[in-house]
Formats: sequence, structure tokens, C-alpha cells
Amino acid sequence: MGKRGFFICVEGLDGCGKTTQAKLLVARLREKGYDAIYTAEPSRGKIGMFIKKYCLHGRKRVSSVVEALLFAADRFEHVENVVIPALNEGKLVVSDRYVYSSLAYQGAAGLDLKWVEKINEHAISPNLAVLIDVVPETVIQRLKPKKSVMENLETQRKVREVYMKFVEKGELVKIDGSNSKQEVADDILTVVLRFLEKAV
Ligand code: TMP
Repeated sequence: MGKRGFFICVEGLDGCGKTTQAKLLVARLREKGYDAIYTAEPSRGKIGMFIKKYCLHGRKRVSSVVEALLFAADRFEHVENVVIPALNEGKLVVSDRYVYSSLAYQGAAGLDLKWVEKINEHAISPNLAVLIDVVPETVIQRLKPKKSVMENLETQRKVREVYMKFVEKGELVKIDGSNSKQEVADDILTVVLRFLEKAV
């Protein structure tokens, strides 16, 4: 790997297996000798923790505009404090959610995608963005016991629609998330290794 590392993000609906897969990817890349790290958004920084407490687990729904601004602010800190320093050390950074989550979720909440893009202008582009695609009906079954405001069928459908726009634009690489955990992991690794072979 060159001096500057690579930035990969993993996206998908709630309950698509994204966190498991992002962590598996890091483990498998490490086995292959890459200096890979796992990170996530919302981040573990102060704003990320605030989002988890007040937006995701709070009783009252926060306005979509406020949510979008908080996610963008958290992303700014995440990029500055975690992603860029790791890239500068030549690491392979795997982020469990990134800017496409804001576009998909806050877009699904009715916000103008252009505005969501604008407030996320500071966010560096990932080198590779992967979408673990599952149909909303599947994730709703998986999420039933821990259903929250973000996790109803209607919302998940809208979120998937936005993600698909970016798949069509060629910005997100779609992986079939309906396969077994092992198959999904293999498919993601294949896409990532193919990208790295070309990029290095
Ligand atoms: P998680 O379950 O992957 O930790 O994500 C928490 C929730 O936050 C999930 O429902 C998606 C949502 N989210 C947004 O709405 N916008 C964003 O920019 C990010 C990063 C997450």
C-alpha cells in the first residue's frame, strides 16, 4: 500500500448485517496483511454520542434538519480525528456508514438531497463504497424486537430507493445481502481486493 491509505465505506439498511460484515472485512484484510481499521458513524466522538442518545434512542423525534446537521457535524469530526490521520499512516479505513447514510436516511425523511450534499461538502470521498442490499421486508423481520422510529417499513423502502440512485450512478457497489453471512463476506472481500489490486 502507498503512503496514503484507502477509505472504504459500507452502507445498508438497518439490520442488513453491515456492522458484522464491516468487522469481518477488516479481520479478513488483516489476515491478508493489510493494515485495516474499523470505524463507524455515528462516531464515538462527542457529537456521535449525542446523536445516539438524543436522536436515535431519545423518546422524542428530533427534526430532520437538526438530525442532518448533527450527522454532518459528527462526520466532520470523524473525518478530521479518525479517518484522515489513519489514511495518512497508510491504513485501510473501513467505515460502517458514511455520507451515503445521510443522503439515504435524511433524504428519505424528505430533505433535499442537494442540501444534504452541500452540508456534507467537507466529507472526503471514499475510494470505494459498498451497499449491502437487502429488501426492506427482510430487515423489518430481523428488526422487530428492537423497532425504532428509523426502522419502519415505509422508511426503509424510501432509504433503499435513495441508495439505489447511487448504485445506478455507479457510486455504490451493490452486494446481494440476502445470501449467507459467509457468501456476503466473500463477495465484499472480492470487490475490495479487486479495487485494491487496481489501485495499488
Ligand atoms: P447504526 O444502526 O448503523 O449504528 O446507525 C444508526 C442509525 O443512524 C441508522 O438508523 C441510520 C442512522 N443514520 C442517519 O440517519 N444518518 C447518518 O448520516 C448516519 C451515519 C446514520
